[in-house]
Formats: sequence, C-alpha cells, structure tokens
Amino acid sequence: MRRLILLSALLGIATGVSPAIASETNVGENLHQQQCLSCHDQTVYTRPRHHVTNLNTLTQQVKRCEVPATAKWTNEEVTSVVNYLNSQFYHFPTP
Ligand code: HEC
Repeated sequence: MRRLILLSALLGIATGVSPAIASETNVGENLHQQQCLSCHDQTVYTRPRHHVTNLNTLTQQVKRCEVPATAKWTNEEVTSVVNYLNSQFYHFPTP
C-alpha cells in the first residue's frame, strides 16, 4: 500500500512537470484557445488583406486584443501566443 502511494506521488510529480516542458507553442495555443476566440475565429489571421504584416505588428495586435479579452498576460505569455500564431498562420521570418 505504501509503495502504491509513493508511486502515485511520483507519477503526480511527473505529470506536474510535463506542462513546464511542453513547447512554448503549446502554451501559446492553449492561451489562445481559452481566451481569444470569443470575438473572432482563426479566419481573421488568414483572410485576404489581413492587417498584420510582420512580427512587430502581430505583437502589437495581440496586445491590443488582449485588453478586451481581459487576458492580462505576462510578456512571456504574449510571446508564446505570438509564436503560436506565427507558426500556425502568419509564417513571418523570425530573427
Ligand atoms: C473583444 C473582441 C476581441 C477579442 C476578445 C479578441 N479579438 Fe482579436 N480582433 C478583434 C477585432 C475587432 C479585430 C479586427 C478585425 C478587423 O479589423 O476587421 C481583431 C483582429 C485580430 C488580429 C489581426 C488579424 C489580421 O488582420 O491579421 C489578431 C492577430 C488578433 N485579433 C488576435 C487576437 C488574440 C491573440 C486574442 C486573444 C488575446 C484576440 N484577438 C481576442 C477583436 C477581438
């Protein structure tokens, strides 16, 4: 019985660790999924003549949209979402 508890404790730790080592893109994807799809879906990113034309304007737009989304993200979280959007939709060259 004791072993079982120990084992589940270890497993608990292992699963607790995995989000931290998940790729940054996954973090951005989750944040975006949870907080960014209430006003528009993903088609705004790929529509013809979309506004965002480089990584800077993408970052600005994410920050702008973060306000009504009441996301209150850290800079790292904004970067994760920018990287997610860029890898999935925009494909701007990264420095
Ligand atoms: C309160 C409503 C609202 C929420 C919530 C929202 N957006 Fe937006 N978003 C808009 C509007 C309005 C536009 C501009 C549409 C237009 O200009 O036709 C836009 C446009 C964008 C664009 C630019 C698309 C282009 O033209 O290239 C990006 C990128 C974007 N949003 C990202 C996000 C992200 C990331 C989140 C989550 C933090 C988010 N949005 C949440 C309203 C919202």
